[in-house]
Amino acid sequence: MSRKLAMWISVLVALVLLLSTGIYFAQSRAVIEREIGRRATELLEADRKTVADFLYHMQSVTFGLFHNPYLTMYLDSGEGKDEIENLFMNYCANIPEIQALRVVDSDGVIRIFIRECVNLTGEEGYEPIDISDKEFMQPAFELEEESIIFSNFERGHLPDATSFCPSMLRAVIPFMENGEKRGFLVVNFWGERIGAVIDKMRKEEGFSFIAEMNRKEPMRHGIFLFHRDKTYEFANQMEHNKRVISVYGEDVMHAFENNRNGLMKINNGKDYLAFTTISPYNDVRRQWKIAAVLNGDFIFRSLSGLKYNFIIVMAVSLFMSVITAFIFSARFLKPIGDIKYSLQQYGEGNLDHELEGDFTDELNDMADSIREMASSLKHHIEGMKESRRKMEIVDRLSSLSVLSAGISHELATPLNSILVACTLMEKEYGKSEELTAVRAQAERCVDILSAMKRLMTDSSAQDKTNVNLRETIENIMRFLEVDAKISLKAELNDVYITANETLISQVVLNILINAVDAVYPEGEVNIKLFCIDSSAVLEVSDTGRGMDEKEMENIFDPFFTTKSPDKGTGLGLSIVHRIVTEHGGRISVESEKERGTTIRVEFDESSSC
Ligand SMILES: Nc1ncnc2c1ncn2[C@@H]1O[C@H](COP(=O)(O)OP(=O)(O)OP(=O)(O)O)[C@@H](O)[C@H]1O
Ligand SMILES: [Mg+2]
Repeated sequence: MSRKLAMWISVLVALVLLLSTGIYFAQSRAVIEREIGRRATELLEADRKTVADFLYHMQSVTFGLFHNPYLTMYLDSGEGKDEIENLFMNYCANIPEIQALRVVDSDGVIRIFIRECVNLTGEEGYEPIDISDKEFMQPAFELEEESIIFSNFERGHLPDATSFCPSMLRAVIPFMENGEKRGFLVVNFWGERIGAVIDKMRKEEGFSFIAEMNRKEPMRHGIFLFHRDKTYEFANQMEHNKRVISVYGEDVMHAFENNRNGLMKINNGKDYLAFTTISPYNDVRRQWKIAAVLNGDFIFRSLSGLKYNFIIVMAVSLFMSVITAFIFSARFLKPIGDIKYSLQQYGEGNLDHELEGDFTDELNDMADSIREMASSLKHHIEGMKESRRKMEIVDRLSSLSVLSAGISHELATPLNSILVACTLMEKEYGKSEELTAVRAQAERCVDILSAMKRLMTDSSAQDKTNVNLRETIENIMRFLEVDAKISLKAELNDVYITANETLISQVVLNILINAVDAVYPEGEVNIKLFCIDSSAVLEVSDTGRGMDEKEMENIFDPFFTTKSPDKGTGLGLSIVHRIVTEHGGRISVESEKERGTTIRVEFDESSSC
């Protein structure tokens, strides 16, 4: 029972905890997701601005150089080369984003070339390089006016090297004269720098990347221009398959193709990807997507920490609830167990069993009620036992009455004959010891017979009058022979009952003789007569020999006596019992061995009470 209760309490606690934790988690997750959206927008806005600034910076630098008069002069007359080289060296030294600076003639041949702050055209043995076939030069040749164009963002490829160098972006402006191109200014910028400025996130927080969406050149569509993992970059040049669609999936690719901004879950909902768009070429078909990948584990780390804390709290709470449930149930169920055990005992008839235990509140009230119930049940059963015993006595007495009538009738004649014969023989031969003994025994038999006759007498049939009990008792006391050492005291009120006076006298006499016999040779006999409610009560107490339980059970039985045959017949109290019962009264006895006895007779509805 206690285990079951403990289990139910634990399950309840677990459910409550799970529910509250679930709600808490759902709410926290929603808050964090909102926070992610905010953080992503913030990050991307900063990234977008950084890239835009970078492009603007490239434009400014390129235009700044373009407007230098030495350049036009050089293209016009071939003069001012030194000044331009100095200018280029200065730019290269002070603007770290610049990789190379070139002045290219109208045929696409490099005339001045500073690369990574080295003046290649100034070196001995420099052979002019024709770059007219370079991809980034093609659009420049087609320009109609002096405007800046940016090349594709890609890895550089030095003519003297077989491998690719870091990524770069080229700005090209043609010098025009009368609609003709006189030459070009080509400035290479380190593309790597763009990526470096946007990728400012901490490693565990996530990273940013730039991808190109290019509907003009399918080979460049979906390539990575910058990525923390360098092996992902420039799939077109490096000939691998690391493109947006293969790395981040169709959904991301689709979102990149159709939206300017967005926030979505990737990697099975673990991480978040936010993106925005920038158009460096002023051409909607060629766009850059700046994206930030936010690490879900990092973002939800506080929630994960919380989750572990909750698991610990839940485990501790469960453990505590089980313990509490056990303690509680032990405290609560032990008293119930005690009550149950006691009820079983009472049910089996053991009404002497004591319901003991430490009860509180309602249980205490319940225990008290059960105790009361058991005690009144015991009382009731004892009453029933007593009634049954009395019934048995009455039954025995009535059978005896029938028997007595027959015996009395049969024995009266021979006994009278014996007595007459004794009288005649005494007259004839004089008194002798033997004759006296025969007469005494015969007279005793006659006494027994007359007592038996009285036993069978139906008192209800006798005349009843209003009897003054006090007077009846006083008359009997007057004639009672009592030894000097026996004190007979009486406290008598005037109490009247409707009864047969002769029979009531027999009751009083029998009880008094018994009391006097019991105190012999010395002691006290107290007689009390009083009213309780409407009942008359006669109480005869003595300080005599008293009786044990066994004796008390038998005293109303006919012929039960503890006296010697010459002193008692054992019929006294059985006659008393019969008379009292027939007068509608009750008789009870209380006694303690060697301490004394109280016989109490009650008659209902006394006219004086
Ligand atoms: N007051 C008493 N104190 C002690 N024992 C008593 C008392 N009254 C009665 N008894 C016991 O009850 C027995 C039965 O009493 P009961 O009056 O019926 O018969 P008895 O006195 O022995 O003989 P009988 O009355 O016929 O002369 C007595 O023998 C005695 O043992
Ligand atoms: Mg007697």
